[in-house]
Amino acid sequence: MKGLILSGGKGTRLRPLTFTSAKQLLPVANTPVLFRVIQAIRDAGISEIGVVIGDTGEEIKAAAGDGSRWGVHLTYIPQPAPLGLAHAVKISRDYLGDERFVMFLGDNVIQGGIHSLIRQFASSTYNSQIVLTEVADPRQYGVAVLDEQGRIARLIEKPKDPPSNLALVGIYMFDRHIFDAVEAIKPSWRNELEITDAIQWLVSNGFSVYPYVHKGWWVDTGKAVDMLEANSLVLSELTPHIEGSVDSDSSVDSRVTVGAGAQIINSVVRGPTIIGENTHIINSYVGPFTSIYHDCVIENAEIERCIVLENCHISDLPARLQDSLIGRNVSVGKSSHKPRAYKLTLGDYSQIELH
Ligand code: DAU
Repeated sequence: MKGLILSGGKGTRLRPLTFTSAKQLLPVANTPVLFRVIQAIRDAGISEIGVVIGDTGEEIKAAAGDGSRWGVHLTYIPQPAPLGLAHAVKISRDYLGDERFVMFLGDNVIQGGIHSLIRQFASSTYNSQIVLTEVADPRQYGVAVLDEQGRIARLIEKPKDPPSNLALVGIYMFDRHIFDAVEAIKPSWRNELEITDAIQWLVSNGFSVYPYVHKGWWVDTGKAVDMLEANSLVLSELTPHIEGSVDSDSSVDSRVTVGAGAQIINSVVRGPTIIGENTHIINSYVGPFTSIYHDCVIENAEIERCIVLENCHISDLPARLQDSLIGRNVSVGKSSHKPRAYKLTLGDYSQIELH
């Protein structure tokens, strides 16, 4: 069995972070979402993985390399334009050949345990297996309707009036018949070849598509709030360890991970939280559900339930920073110069809330 990860697309809802970085490389608990997906496929016993890339392909290749650090072999498959998930399958046909494969969306984070399902599919006779989960607002997903026997009756992509609350999670398993399906379907209203339509084609043409309902958590990290949610969930399950140093004036609880070379000085850090390598926390409070990446300085500040990317400097804040997503090389501080005013240098599509 092979793996296929979709890591193209535009990532418009995560601007401005995605102006300078592929959305799949944004970290959750200090590990890029794409790396978590590679690990999940590797844990299912799959070592040959194709990665579909678009405009941000060079950055993705530089970050993930040949895959050897996870013990897998990555093959990059360029997609000329983001023409849909089924289009990505279509252009991967030569790579996949006749093998059964599992397809993961490169921006989804799912609670562990899915690898046994993938292993089962490898030796099953189903033509396809899809993963569903109950969601509060199904309108932003592909949605499945099951019949009384629990079989798939119908699938619809992003319905305005959802007929069920079962969303398609971004993990799909297929055999070679999916290539007939992606050739047969037409682009949707958003001009994409939808994988949901391709699976509906399999169902309508008598192929066996098995629905598995996932009961754990799952997050599609499309927006900033979703990134913060995924970060909180993954941090809650992290096994903590302390490699850096914590001075005697600091208090760090048992759910905190401190990376190598990091220093906690005269500060309080409450977990679940992760502090990246060589980051310094000085005279500060870091609250639960916070991930601070490598090479940052947090000084005379309070920060809680945030994701801070590498090389940021946050100091002397007049109020607690909360529920925030902060990009690379950002500086947030206080000035002693008059006039007393907010001075901002914000990239396009930035969002700030002041009180
Ligand atoms: O997250 C689950 C949902 O993912 C499903 O419920 C929907 O049925 C499915 O269509 C998909 O919806 P999204 O609109 O959220 O997909 P998105 O455009 O965010 O793309 C998902 C991933 O696939 C992302 O990592 C980018 C990549 N991609 C996307 C497109 C359209 C590609 O590699 N190529 C593409 O052409």
